[in-house]
Amino acid sequence: MESKIKVSIVGVTGYTGSELVRLLVRHPQVELLELEGRSAAGQPLGNVFPHLAPLGLSVKEKLERPAEADFIFLGLPHHASAERAAEIFEQAPNTRIIDLSADFRLRDRTTYEKWYGEHHAPYLLPEALYGLPELYRKQVTANTRLVANPGCYPTCSSLALAPALSEKIIEPYVVINALSGTSGAGRGLKQNLHYSEMHDSASAYGLEGHRHAPEITQILTDVNQQAKVTVSFTPHLMPLARGMLATCSARLSPEWLAQYSANPNAAIRTLYSNFYAGEQFVRIVTTPPTTKEVFGSNYCFLYPTVDIEAGRLVVISVIDNLVKGAAGQAIQNMNLLSGLPESLGLEALGIYP
Ligand SMILES: NC(=O)c1ccc[n+]([C@@H]2O[C@H](COP(=O)([O-])OP(=O)(O)OC[C@H]3O[C@@H](n4cnc5c(N)ncnc54)[C@H](OP(=O)(O)O)[C@@H]3O)[C@@H](O)[C@H]2O)c1
Repeated sequence: MESKIKVSIVGVTGYTGSELVRLLVRHPQVELLELEGRSAAGQPLGNVFPHLAPLGLSVKEKLERPAEADFIFLGLPHHASAERAAEIFEQAPNTRIIDLSADFRLRDRTTYEKWYGEHHAPYLLPEALYGLPELYRKQVTANTRLVANPGCYPTCSSLALAPALSEKIIEPYVVINALSGTSGAGRGLKQNLHYSEMHDSASAYGLEGHRHAPEITQILTDVNQQAKVTVSFTPHLMPLARGMLATCSARLSPEWLAQYSANPNAAIRTLYSNFYAGEQFVRIVTTPPTTKEVFGSNYCFLYPTVDIEAGRLVVISVIDNLVKGAAGQAIQNMNLLSGLPESLGLEALGIYP
């Protein structure tokens, strides 16, 4: 029998780190090696996350054997992540890192520094693979050792718009209105996330510019190949613990509308189904999807439709921000880099209702 993949997690005291544990313990080819979490050093993981107590795992202040890990996942905030990645590569140059923060997602350092401040390990930027497998799978090489796991909003909205941009049937000016549950902001306490402030309420934020906009622009411009895509992105906070829904739209080309005027909805569904043929995790669904349908799963459900009156494509996209938007996609990337089926350990369906 082949040996299992040895995995360590940094930031296990956070939401993405704990979600990695929940998913990885069910992965048939993974052995969890070490868990690092600064606020719970020396404690059972169950003290921090009681739902994980049955696993009997404990937390360390720092990984002790980074070089023994085949993969190390980083569930840290930006800056802390770049610093830890640099430190780990010093100690363990052959270990592969999957970073869930934004530190290695933007290829251009100037763009990164405009949105996040000074980069803490810029020399690692050129080797990072952007880990959205459905769109960047071909860029994986035998030497890939650093994966920038995408943001949740960029995953949800880019998967929604990529087929139409790739087939050049929409103008490169897109509007994205996206809703997120509160776990998207991490476990730290913030006033606007208090139950009494966010329950029974919905709000827009980031109107002066959101850090995920340049990431979405980078992906969609890659897909579009010719012209830079202009992105108008408005995120909203919803009173949900998990879940993300993006409504994405753009003007359809008059030529495409004229060609498919008899049944544009059938044509758009065929185009989307063909684009994602063979993809395990992206499904073209027949009714507008809800966040509940993908709760706890690695699926992205897409519902493309045509607003005939406005001449616009409208695509509804849902994911679980902690799974396809973070930990699940990170495991999909580990599978991809390991030559395993991408869905291994990620087959669970959404929990419904
Ligand atoms: N939440 C999501 O839906 C989501 C989706 C995609 C990507 N991400 C990204 O994933 C990363 C982790 O997010 P999260 O939601 O898991 O955040 P979180 O719940 O706030 O957890 C953050 C983790 O990082 C640790 N940490 C914080 N500052 C640190 C520092 N300076 N040095 C060392 N450790 C530090 C925390 O440790 P202690 O608590 O023990 O102090 C905790 O383990 C972020 O970069 C986030 O942007 C999150």
